Amino acid sequence: MTDRLYTVDLTQWNGPFTPAQQDGATAAMESGNVVYLPKLDFQFNPEEQKFLTPVWSNGAAKNISYDHRNGRIQGMEGDQTAQHELAALLKRYSESTLTLMQGLFPQYKAALLRMRTSYRPVEIKGRVSKVTKDDTRLHPDQFPARPVGGKRIIRIFCNVNPEGKGRDWRIGEPFADFAGKFVPRLKAPFPGSRDLMYMLRITRTPRTMYDHYMLQLHDQGKMDDRYQHSAPQIPFVFPPHCTWTCFTDEVLHAVDAGQYLLEQTYLLPVEAMKNPEKSPLRVLEKLMGKKLM
Ligand code: SIN
Ligand code: FE
Repeated sequence: MTDRLYTVDLTQWNGPFTPAQQDGATAAMESGNVVYLPKLDFQFNPEEQKFLTPVWSNGAAKNISYDHRNGRIQGMEGDQTAQHELAALLKRYSESTLTLMQGLFPQYKAALLRMRTSYRPVEIKGRVSKVTKDDTRLHPDQFPARPVGGKRIIRIFCNVNPEGKGRDWRIGEPFADFAGKFVPRLKAPFPGSRDLMYMLRITRTPRTMYDHYMLQLHDQGKMDDRYQHSAPQIPFVFPPHCTWTCFTDEVLHAVDAGQYLLEQTYLLPVEAMKNPEKSPLRVLEKLMGKKLM
């Protein structure tokens, strides 16, 4: 497992960052590995400890989410004051991750797009969801309603569990191996279907060919029981009070157990990578023998 993790011993979100760490972490990310920061924790203030219970989740959404662009919080139960307090916590997490991303990945700094922040206070184990939404199944991330248009998805996670519980992940095979198995089964979109989904507001923007095929890979992979059981996968438990990040559109992952996680999503244009040919976009284009953007 350790060969899929690149460990950086940072203790502060604002560094200091050495050139060796920056080069190593960037290379690890672009090779489809996970950058692991075992000593980097995110602190809740004493008055924020009350958020360490699942009762704040409204049960409808999987997670509580926060959008730093408008300060809005979604999926949360609780009065205005509590909503403001949790929003402030998530804003602080979001800004901490931005400092880290810009410091550790200077290559991406100018192009990085900061998206939504989430808080996941509900235990994963035993949670029921429909197959394509079931994150206990190996998958690369894709957003059904929010097409990425070829951009990379980076997520940065911090396990804030106060009870000593780790977050049990499995990490799957390299993206090209996974995609190679499923490409023969991928179907072209029905003519007009992507415009229709946009008109009906099923998607925020029209899905590109890349979004269409990546979503199929995500769904087909999750629905294939044989693949789920037989595909190469290595378990790793992220202990409490640690942080990790990776390109989740590329790194196949599944979560079996764990409670209380903070997560920040970023998008990155493929051209901002050191090696754009390593992106799922280029890998998929090569496998399918055509342009997808
Ligand atoms: C996922 O992105 O599939 C879930 C990760 C997690 O909640 O640990
Ligand atoms: Fe995921």
